[in-house]
Amino acid sequence: MATDYEEALQRLVNSHGDWFADEENLRRGRMSADLHPYTHLFAPIQVNSVHIRNRIVMGPMGNICMADETGRPSAKMIEYFAARARGGVGLITSGLVPTSHGIDPSVTEPGGLSYFPRIDRSRTNFAGWRTLAENCHAHGARFFIQLTPGVGRVGSPECLVKKYRLPVSSYWNPNFYMPQVPCRPLTNRECRRIIKRTGQAAADAKALLIDGVYLHGHEGYLLEQFANPAFNRRRWGRFSDSQAFGVELVREIRKRCGPAYPIMYRIDLSLALRATYGERMEHVKTLRKFRNERTVAMTLEYMGSLVRAGVDMFDVDLGCYDNWWLPHPPDSMPPGCFLPVAKIVKDYFAEHGILSNAGQAVPIVAVGKLGYPDLAERALRDGLCDMVMLARPLLADPQWPQKAYAGRVRDIVPCIGDQEACLNEFLEGGHLQCAVNPRTGFEELLPEDVPPTLTPKRVAVVGAGPAGVMCATTAARRGHRVTLFDRNDKAGGTLLAASVPKIKLDAANYVDYLNAALEACARDFDLAVRFRTETSVDALRDGNHDVVAVCTGGVPCAPPVPGADLPHVVQAVALLREPRLAEGAARIVVVGGGQVGCETAYWLACEHGKQVTVIEMLPHFMEGVCTANRGHILHFLHRKGVRLLNCTRVEAIGETTVSVARNVSPTVPDPYVTWAPLLPENVPNPLARPIKVDEREETLECDLVVLAVGMRPNDGLYQACVREQVAPEVHNLGDSFEPARVFEAVKAGYRVGLSL
Ligand SMILES: Cc1cc2nc3c(=O)[nH]c(=O)nc-3n(C[C@H](O)[C@H](O)[C@H](O)COP(=O)(O)O)c2cc1C
Ligand code: SF4
Repeated sequence: MATDYEEALQRLVNSHGDWFADEENLRRGRMSADLHPYTHLFAPIQVNSVHIRNRIVMGPMGNICMADETGRPSAKMIEYFAARARGGVGLITSGLVPTSHGIDPSVTEPGGLSYFPRIDRSRTNFAGWRTLAENCHAHGARFFIQLTPGVGRVGSPECLVKKYRLPVSSYWNPNFYMPQVPCRPLTNRECRRIIKRTGQAAADAKALLIDGVYLHGHEGYLLEQFANPAFNRRRWGRFSDSQAFGVELVREIRKRCGPAYPIMYRIDLSLALRATYGERMEHVKTLRKFRNERTVAMTLEYMGSLVRAGVDMFDVDLGCYDNWWLPHPPDSMPPGCFLPVAKIVKDYFAEHGILSNAGQAVPIVAVGKLGYPDLAERALRDGLCDMVMLARPLLADPQWPQKAYAGRVRDIVPCIGDQEACLNEFLEGGHLQCAVNPRTGFEELLPEDVPPTLTPKRVAVVGAGPAGVMCATTAARRGHRVTLFDRNDKAGGTLLAASVPKIKLDAANYVDYLNAALEACARDFDLAVRFRTETSVDALRDGNHDVVAVCTGGVPCAPPVPGADLPHVVQAVALLREPRLAEGAARIVVVGGGQVGCETAYWLACEHGKQVTVIEMLPHFMEGVCTANRGHILHFLHRKGVRLLNCTRVEAIGETTVSVARNVSPTVPDPYVTWAPLLPENVPNPLARPIKVDEREETLECDLVVLAVGMRPNDGLYQACVREQVAPEVHNLGDSFEPARVFEAVKAGYRVGLSL
């Protein structure tokens, strides 16, 4: 049985590379409403003493920089959760809240500051939590707080230079961000202090009307650094037993909060490191340390011990930081990626008759890309899980539950899985937001319904990409008279090409949403949509508009090298829209290893069976893209045999060749490394190995060259409109201002629409 589990795990992890070859998987990821009414999603459930109105749990997402400097939840955080409660979710969970300040040096910054909310500091913090819980209750939702004993090796190593303290862990483990920095083992006394503090935090949570506590035991955070032998290699003492820390923690909470208070635990069924990296677990220095990971059978046994200690419910996923695309599945991962994992646990609990201390069956919550209503309902109907957790889908649309209940699935704003505005935004110093929902993280400032205008204007919007659609619909909803022009026959702009690869299913859903949103807005407000229309400066001037908003996107750049204009050289964007251009080409060189280049290479290799090489001048591929998204693509490009050449410059393109200058120094980073992240530019790593230069000429044979070297603003129309004074107000937004991401385009469209 134990080997069956490991084999099932291996098959599951392997399937994450080409899941889209099965049409059924693609169908599961569409925003359809075939199973409406969603009887199972909206059935109530009892967890210990708490009644929850439906089966939808809002997943924990770090409320980084959403609390004031004492750690008290701010108006931003309170309104953010209130919006989700109002949207109809049954159970809300907070992002991680550390209970180890002063012990784990990575959770506190110099001066006692912390970007995490706190419940452990003083009574000053209590009022924020109490108001938060009261507001959730007012809208009929329950609220659990996610307590974390610490971050340990996955926290910032900056404590070393800023506080002269080593980061900590269960044992001597390398820090994730800078593996050269060791984390020292916590002493038994420190462990006991953390356990006591967490018990106190839970008792405070209960007093503050919070409905339950939720332990952060997954993804290789400090709790798991104790609970998994991959990290916990202590040889003696109480906490060398990998179950001890977690079990004592739960017992302490039970002791402090009594038998009726719900305790939820988040666990990964496996780190899946061996299933991900196979042989490399033996050879790669950092990974080798972690090769003795907890098996699936051990996890299930540990879960049994946790229930006996007092846990009432679990949610289950896979993976850790070192294969980050598992716990943070990007757009390119399959819809419902961890449903089989939830089912394994559910079956195990049923077979072993495991009941909670309240004598109830232990609900198993499934998580991971479940924001497709039919898929979520199907999972419950098929008994794969007892509840479904939605994290990012509720950032994209807090009204997801209400809309699903009402069968308005076409109106749900779908998450596009880019993780740029949620995960990346706070890793880079902000707080969580959402690429497709400009209100997320600003609920305290921006009203849900846009305010009506007192001075209706005639507005022309040129270009129906995300910026144009957002600008046009926001302005129309405010009462302006809007005309939207686009030369294509549907909305989407650059996304029409970007959503062609099957791994971009979420982007395709978003294109459908944009078109549905336009249709609905044109029906209900004064919005005229003119597709297949090229407008001009003269036409705009003759239109007598008060405002012209130009959203004409970007144009792809070409490298300034001989041969870039040869007939077999195509832009990635053009190829995606005309795949027949690759017909007959067996060997393809992609120039540019950013997101577009790598995703196009993935599409060519996995969907069209091409032999692909990608060339990148920089040391790293997909620089600036979220570590999870980057990791998934690079890992499976490697497995597919796609050649990645970094520190490589194109010199000339010939009829059947590309000549490059390639740095072959052994100091050039291995482009396939996905177990270590790229650090943000403003975080220097004094321990990183400098790259030396040893350039060699190389000739690559190929039949087709695909260019993906970036875009420049297509701002000719905007410049002309300004020059010719076509209207009293002229705006330039989205890629025609500066080529960027959906995040920037949507924000600009909304902000400009709101300001007219
Ligand atoms: C911005 C962001 C922050 C997250 N923070 C946490 C966290 O604080 N604690 C946690 O256990 N998981 C965290 N996660 C993981 C999510 O809870 C969830 O497991 C993951 O996003 C997959 O679910 P989804 O597909 O519904 O988004 C975070 C995810 C995102 C996108
Ligand atoms: S930023 Fe992107 S991944 Fe994150 S919730 Fe919004 S759409 Fe989803």
